[in-house]
Amino acid sequence: MTCTTMTAARMPKAGRAAELVVEPATYPRAAVGDVIVQVHAAAFTPGELDWEPTYVDRTGRDRTPAIPARDVSGVVVELGFGTNPSDLRVGDRVFGMIDRYRDGAAAEYVAVEGRDLALLPPEVDHVQAASLPMSGLTAWQALFVHGGLGAGQRVVIHGAGGAVGQLAVQLARNIGAEVIGTGRTRDRDAVLGAGATTFLDLTGDPLEPLDGTVDLVFDMIGGDILARSSTLIAPGGTLVSIAAPPAVQPPTGRAVYFIVEPNRAQLTELARGVAAGELVMPTPVLYPLTEAQKAFSDKENGVPGKFILRNDDVVSNGSR
Ligand SMILES: NC(=O)c1ccc[n+]([C@@H]2O[C@H](COP(=O)([O-])OP(=O)(O)OC[C@H]3O[C@@H](n4cnc5c(N)ncnc54)[C@H](OP(=O)(O)O)[C@@H]3O)[C@@H](O)[C@H]2O)c1
Repeated sequence: MTCTTMTAARMPKAGRAAELVVEPATYPRAAVGDVIVQVHAAAFTPGELDWEPTYVDRTGRDRTPAIPARDVSGVVVELGFGTNPSDLRVGDRVFGMIDRYRDGAAAEYVAVEGRDLALLPPEVDHVQAASLPMSGLTAWQALFVHGGLGAGQRVVIHGAGGAVGQLAVQLARNIGAEVIGTGRTRDRDAVLGAGATTFLDLTGDPLEPLDGTVDLVFDMIGGDILARSSTLIAPGGTLVSIAAPPAVQPPTGRAVYFIVEPNRAQLTELARGVAAGELVMPTPVLYPLTEAQKAFSDKENGVPGKFILRNDDVVSNGSR
């Protein structure tokens, strides 16, 4: 590889989106077990710039200037030493979620652990694939790993109109659960369209009629909504939050907070669902990589939608 520099969006220090700079950066080095991916599309999650791991390594050492955006879809261009067990090859179309303590995918190239990536089926394009890893893995792990949701059970999904929420609604519906989605008034059509049986508008509809009847509450809002949810839990049920550790345990169930983890098998199943039309990705909001600062600022200012940074230099060369 003759390339020594690349374009990347970097945070010079922990801060707000206004401080993000698109600039030349050093081409990444593949550590043991890594591959280098040429990024075709990348995605980020609200709040990413507030997370401590965005700016430090696993020992807590500062690694600024830091590149954000945890989700990547692209093509493998280099294999580091020890990547054979991950079965990846140069030229593979891959997607996945990058460890939070490493540089992310708001760049032309990124080093990722091979085991954190999955092969991308030909039916799924890079923009769809970049929308999937963190949102899809979070939804999957909340419902099935931490929440143990099964067919015929009732689940309440708070924030169901968002990126994680719309996938969670579809995954829960697809296994035959009864899905009650909540959110703002404007989310009603998207949540019912994704397969929820019922929509509750959190600005007006009461939650109390559900007291003691819900097998799983999946919360991604926190605050008052999380606090009001523990009484909804049926005996033996679970309250799972990705927003904050629940302060109140359900009287006859359990409460869990977790942080999403990479998982190749789950990614593969999510991509299979998209390829088969069982999971429909919400239409993303696209920005070229060169406009990363605007993308992060727009998200900080509350613009809804899943934001994708696209590497237009690669896309204009005919990538799919
Ligand atoms: N722990 C983890 O591992 C993990 C993983 C992924 C995501 N997260 C976090 O989970 C959250 C959801 O992620 P996402 O990507 O799905 O974000 P998103 O696309 O912004 O979705 C969040 C949804 O919740 C709605 N919402 C937020 N506050 C609300 C309120 N008070 N009342 C009604 N609706 C409300 C939002 O509406 P508005 O847009 O109108 O506010 C939006 O529809 C984010 O905070 C993210 O940082 C955590």
